[in-house]
Amino acid sequence: MPPKKEKQPERPSASSSTSKSEKDGKGLSPDAIQLLLNNNPALAGEMQGMDQNSIAELLKKLKVGDLMTGMATGGKNQKDMASYKFWSTQPVTRFDEPDAALPDGPIRENDLSRVKTSPGELIDGFEWVTMDLTDEHEMNEVYDLLTGHYVEDQEAMFRFNYSASFLDWALKSPGWLKEWHVGVRVSSSRKLVAFISGIPVTLKVRDNIIKCSEINFLCIHKKLRSKRLTPVLIKEITRRCNLKEVWNAIYTAGIILPKPVATCRYYHRSLNWLKLHETGFSPLPHNMTKARMISRYHLPTETKTVGLRELTAADLDQTHKLLTRYLNRFEMAPVMDRDEIEHWFLYKPAQGKERVVWCYVVEDPETKKITDMFSFYALDSSVIGNKKHETIHAAYLFYYASTVAFEDESDESKDVPSGSESDAVKKKLKERLNALAHDALILAKRYNFDVCNGLTLMDNVLFLEQQKFGAGDGNLHYYLFNWRTSMIRGGVDETNRIDEKNGSGIGVVML
Ligand SMILES: CC(C)(COP(=O)(O)OP(=O)(O)OC[C@H]1O[C@@H](n2cnc3c(N)ncnc32)[C@H](O)[C@@H]1OP(=O)(O)O)[C@@H](O)C(=O)NCCC(=O)NCCS
Repeated sequence: MPPKKEKQPERPSASSSTSKSEKDGKGLSPDAIQLLLNNNPALAGEMQGMDQNSIAELLKKLKVGDLMTGMATGGKNQKDMASYKFWSTQPVTRFDEPDAALPDGPIRENDLSRVKTSPGELIDGFEWVTMDLTDEHEMNEVYDLLTGHYVEDQEAMFRFNYSASFLDWALKSPGWLKEWHVGVRVSSSRKLVAFISGIPVTLKVRDNIIKCSEINFLCIHKKLRSKRLTPVLIKEITRRCNLKEVWNAIYTAGIILPKPVATCRYYHRSLNWLKLHETGFSPLPHNMTKARMISRYHLPTETKTVGLRELTAADLDQTHKLLTRYLNRFEMAPVMDRDEIEHWFLYKPAQGKERVVWCYVVEDPETKKITDMFSFYALDSSVIGNKKHETIHAAYLFYYASTVAFEDESDESKDVPSGSESDAVKKKLKERLNALAHDALILAKRYNFDVCNGLTLMDNVLFLEQQKFGAGDGNLHYYLFNWRTSMIRGGVDETNRIDEKNGSGIGVVML
C-alpha cells in the first residue's frame, strides 16, 4: 500500500461531470471518451494504434465504473503504462475481455514438468540470491533497500518505512518459504539492489478456494529503474511458486495493470492533525482554522465498549471461528488456519523487536464469549526533506469481526454474505462497527500514532465517514494472477466516492 496524502477538498473532477447515461455505459460521447483517455494514461496506452471505431467498440464493452476507478493513475506511472508489453504475455485478465464472459477458474493450465528448473538470465554483472531472513544481517539488507527505495507518494514527500520487525512478521508467516524471498545482487560488490517476495495464503474467491502466493515488497534500486527488471523478477517469483505447485497469486498496486479485480480507495483519519499538517500530509481547508481542525479530530482518552481487552492466547480458538465466519461474508477473503490467526494477531513481546500488531477482543461479561475483535498494525512513513518531522507513525486498519453480522442466522455453520442482512441487522452492524472503530482510534492515539489509515474494503464504508476518515488521493487495485473472476465491488462508486449501499466484496487486507 503506498502512502497517500489526504486529498485536497473535493474539486469538480472528470468523473463528477459525467452524465447518467454515460455512467450507465451507454452512448459515451467523443468528448467523454477523450476525457477518459486523458485521465487514464493506462487505458490510453492500451489503445495506442487502434482506430476510433475499435476504441469506441472497446469502450462500450468496458464498464464506465472500471474506467472511473482507474483514474487515480498519475503522471508518474505514465511511462510504464504506455503499453503492457510484459503483462500482455501473462495469464491475467485483459481489459478487452468482457466481464464474466467465462466461468471463474485458472487462465492457464499448468504442468509442473514444464516449469524451468533454473532462473531466467539477469543483466550482466547481477545475480539471483535467495535471501535468508532468519539472518539479521540479510534482513537488514532488505530493510535498507526498502527504506531507501520502496513506495513513495506521487510528489515524493513520503516513503514507506517498514521496520525490520514488520518485515519479520510480514514475510515469515506460517508456511513461509525461504525460496520465495528473492533478491538480486551486484556480483562484484554483493550489494542488494532488488527484491520481491511471496508468502503462502489460502484464498476464497467467490465459490473457489485457491492456494495462492501473496506477492509483496517488489522493489528495485532507484538507479536500476526502467530497465525492464520488474518482468524478470515477476517471472522468477512465478517460477519459484510454480515449483511448489502454486499457480495463482494475489497482489496489489497503486498503478493500473491488466486488470484490477477490485479497486478500493484510501481513507485517512487524523490523530495528530497539527503534525500531519506540518508534514504536508493534511491540508488546511479554506474555511477552517488550525485550532478548529485540531478540535475536530479530538478523541476521548478512554474506550467505551464493555468487555474490550487485548487478545490473549486463550482467545485464539474463538477468535479464529469468529473471524473465519465474518470473512466468509466477502467474495474474496483469506482462509486462515489457527496458526495464522496466532501469527497475525497475537502480540508476543520479544527483545529487540518493535510492536507491529494490536488486536482487541470484546468478551461478553455474562457468557464470557468473544463477540467482536478488531486489529491494526503499525507502519511508519518517512517524511522526505522536512526539517521538523522525520516520520509519520501510521496505524493501518487490519481485520475485524462482529457477531452482530450473524444475528439473522442462528445456524453457525451457515454463511451470511455481506449485504444480505436484514435492514435491522445492517443498522445494528453499522452502530457496532462505529463503536469499535471509535475505540480503535482511541487506542491508536494512546499508542502515539499520528494517523489511522484504511481502505474502502470489508465493511469499512459503514464507519469511515462517521469516524472522520477523509478521502485520500490514491486508490489501491487488487489483482489476481492466473485466476479469472469478474469484478468485485471495492466500496466506491463510479465517481470514486464511498458506496455504502453496495459496500465491498473485498475481505483481504494486504500489508
Ligand atoms: C515498481 C518498480 C519495481 C517498477 O520498476 P521500473 O524500473 O519502473 O519498471 P521496469 O522497467 O523494471 O518494468 C516495467 C514493467 O513492469 C510493470 N510494473 C511496474 N510496476 C509494477 C508493479 N507495481 N506491479 C507489477 N508490475 C509492475 C510495468 O507495467 C511494465 O510492464 P508492461 O510493459 O507490461 O507495462 C519500481 O518503480 C520500484 O521499486 N518502485 C518503488 C516500490 C514500488 O512501487 N513497488 C511496487 C509496490 S506495488
